[in-house]
Amino acid sequence: MTAVRCIQADITKLKVDAIVNAANSSLLGGGGVDGAIHRAAGSRLLEECRLLGGCPTGDARITGGYDLPARYVIHTVGPVWHSGKKGEAKLLASCYRRSLEIAIEHGLESIAFPCISTGAYGFPKEAAAQIAVSTVKDFIRSEASFTEVIFCCYTQADLLIYKNLLNF
Ligand code: AR6
Repeated sequence: MTAVRCIQADITKLKVDAIVNAANSSLLGGGGVDGAIHRAAGSRLLEECRLLGGCPTGDARITGGYDLPARYVIHTVGPVWHSGKKGEAKLLASCYRRSLEIAIEHGLESIAFPCISTGAYGFPKEAAAQIAVSTVKDFIRSEASFTEVIFCCYTQADLLIYKNLLNF
């Protein structure tokens, strides 16, 4: 059984196999959670990211965690919100799915997600959380190898949305 839970925390502090970064397609850092992860991981993270050559929206790439407590960082590129008319929902679901697939390919058992696309990229928070929870639940139904999936909320408002969706 995979434990799925939500917490309010700074994702850079979590000691899990992998934390997910809400990156941009350059994978060269930015603001928000991306900036926090790069600051906490140290400059070797950026050096490894430079070798990756970017990542398309909806896909993901893995690197080491360097100075983070997490062993790995899975960088995914969420969609920018354009009123929902540019396939944003499918692309966001793909971010969660691809991150989980990559984690499994690397034999990882615990993973923490931030609220991808809901900051600078403007995806409505409630709709994004519904996609996050349903995609993760669908995925772990067929993949039993995860011990723990954490939705790491930075704000109390996000935590409340996830608590309602996860029936806590
Ligand atoms: N731990 C957990 N969650 C956090 C943290 C943290 N330390 N800091 C912020 N959040 P955003 P996006 C939450 O803007 O919308 C960057 O510049 C935040 O409250 O980080 O996918 C990238 O380089 C929000 O809920 O990511 C891209 O250019 C969530 O993280 C762009 O922003 C996502 O907000 C990506 O935009």
